[in-house]
Amino acid sequence: MESSKKDLNETEFSTMVEAQLSRRGFLKGSAATGVGTFLALNPVMEAIAAEPTSKLLNFNPIPASTADQVIVPAGYRATPLISWGDPIFNRAPDFDPSGKQNADAQEKQFGDNTDGMSLFPISENRAVLAINNEYTNYEYLFDHQGKSMTAADVRKAQAAVGVTVVEIVRQGKNWQIDRTGQRNRRITANTAMQLTGPAAGHALLKTQNDPTGTKVHGTFNNCANGQTPWGTYLTCEENFDDFFGSKKGRDLTADEKRYGMAAKKSRYQWEQFDDRFDIAQHPNEPNRFGWVVEIDPNDPNSTPLKRTALGRFKHENAALVLDKSGHVVVYMGDDERGEFLYKFVSKKRYQPGNDAANRELLEDGTLYAAKFNMDTKSLKGGGQWLELTYGKNGLTAENGFASQAEVLIFARRAASLAGATTMDRPEWVAVHPGHQYVFCTLTNNKYRGVKDGQPIGGPNPRAKNQYGQILRWLPIDGDHTHDHFAWDLYLVAGNPEVHSDLYGGTDNINKDNMFNSPDGLGFDKDGRLWILTDGNYSNKGDFAGQGNNQMLCGDPLTGEIKRFLTGPIACEITGLTFSPDQKTMFVGVQHPGEKMAPSHFPEGGKSKPRSTVMMITRDDGGIIGA
Ligand code: FEO
Ligand code: CA
Ligand code: CA
Ligand code: CA
Repeated sequence: MESSKKDLNETEFSTMVEAQLSRRGFLKGSAATGVGTFLALNPVMEAIAAEPTSKLLNFNPIPASTADQVIVPAGYRATPLISWGDPIFNRAPDFDPSGKQNADAQEKQFGDNTDGMSLFPISENRAVLAINNEYTNYEYLFDHQGKSMTAADVRKAQAAVGVTVVEIVRQGKNWQIDRTGQRNRRITANTAMQLTGPAAGHALLKTQNDPTGTKVHGTFNNCANGQTPWGTYLTCEENFDDFFGSKKGRDLTADEKRYGMAAKKSRYQWEQFDDRFDIAQHPNEPNRFGWVVEIDPNDPNSTPLKRTALGRFKHENAALVLDKSGHVVVYMGDDERGEFLYKFVSKKRYQPGNDAANRELLEDGTLYAAKFNMDTKSLKGGGQWLELTYGKNGLTAENGFASQAEVLIFARRAASLAGATTMDRPEWVAVHPGHQYVFCTLTNNKYRGVKDGQPIGGPNPRAKNQYGQILRWLPIDGDHTHDHFAWDLYLVAGNPEVHSDLYGGTDNINKDNMFNSPDGLGFDKDGRLWILTDGNYSNKGDFAGQGNNQMLCGDPLTGEIKRFLTGPIACEITGLTFSPDQKTMFVGVQHPGEKMAPSHFPEGGKSKPRSTVMMITRDDGGIIGA
């Protein structure tokens, strides 16, 4: 893990990234005439000008939609695979829309709010899917919409979140749930788990119920995900603070406030009936959440492992790449306004064929947070990874850190102290399968340029950013362990029909492909960049013409963007994985009809709306997008 001590300035970085781009033939000559200032300063945009038509995106893009259905391009089909409440075991009851089913039923059914997911092949026509169930919609989970909660209701809500592991089999073009699958499993807010790594056993992780500080129950607010080359699933704990509260109330510490804790009745009211979630009674319980959890989807009896080496924050996803050095590198966003982008580098190296050893790779390593140049005139520049190691970068006892465990438990405070750059809500990170570019969605940030510590500039170029942008960076020499990188903005989302400045977006955004709040992000094996949105679906004002949440496909090199899918009313599109032959895409429709919006997706009629994993196939059996 050689690290350069050389501090490159912005011009040197730009020269480097442009040299790498042109070496690979991505830049054909200089920028075309008529290219504006932003384009001239941005190598991605220059590449678009030079090569306007992508060879990767071979489907007919679709218009924005406000319809209550999933719409895909001509020649494609969208079919539900599994919806909230569908049984995943033979012994499980069918979904009952009354809202009166109990926790025992929900524990054997697909959880609510489908989110990040990964597919693990078993054979050509059999696979196991691991799917996050981020949170739950009380307005549909209960007949009383959450207005008269009981202890039994809290148990049911705890059974509706976490992770679902389920085997699927292919029959014809489509796949089906196999309720007899040996790997089928529900992981909930009460499943036994283990805290591992440098912070495990620390006093801040000990509770009355667990004096060892290593045995924890459950995972929740599992947002997005990651997948390891040794066959495990990574599920990421995001807004865990929503599940904690206090009956009596008490003063909060600065760290508790930073992580969003509130000493009052919580959104989900778990603390009212389950003392574990009352922070006045169990102040360390929230410290046991906000981690990346590693799950073996092939062993339903395995204990999920919370990997403290990857830091505690509101984890979005975990984009894992095997660096050429053999180290495993995990890129991670902390999705909150003004929080940071992180990188973990494993201490040990990957050993091909030795998965017993590889399963320890996330146990120990170095955590970093990103610092960007903050130029206000350019959408590109240099950046640096700041090491979050006790004793370095000001992370000392004088500054409030007594150990590496504390650095990891309060990673946000450590990254602030080290000097990381506050970001516009980093959501998913994705690494290109064929070269070393890394992409990250910065979904939006109404506080940019408004709140202290969130200045405009660098990769966060707009005040009160309601549209979001996609950041792209290239590690020096393609070395993911390197502590420097060059970056640019792949796109700045906007509404060119409403705004003529940067709020109209970069030149690869137009009236036919516009959207707001990019969130989910993933590559297929051919290098298509799939962009999933979780934004404002009012279709009015700043968002006029953008319709419901959607999925787009981008050429990561030319910058061309086409709309591929539109979702039903009041949903978020999130979660993406593919069959190994890329002939089936699995994509999640989360909370259609949230807050009682008039959706009846997927069944139509007067049915209750349900979060659903969809399968996208081509009528001619071809590869999705090709
Ligand atoms: Fe669960 Fe940041 O999205
Ligand atoms: Ca998200
Ligand atoms: Ca989001
Ligand atoms: Ca959502």
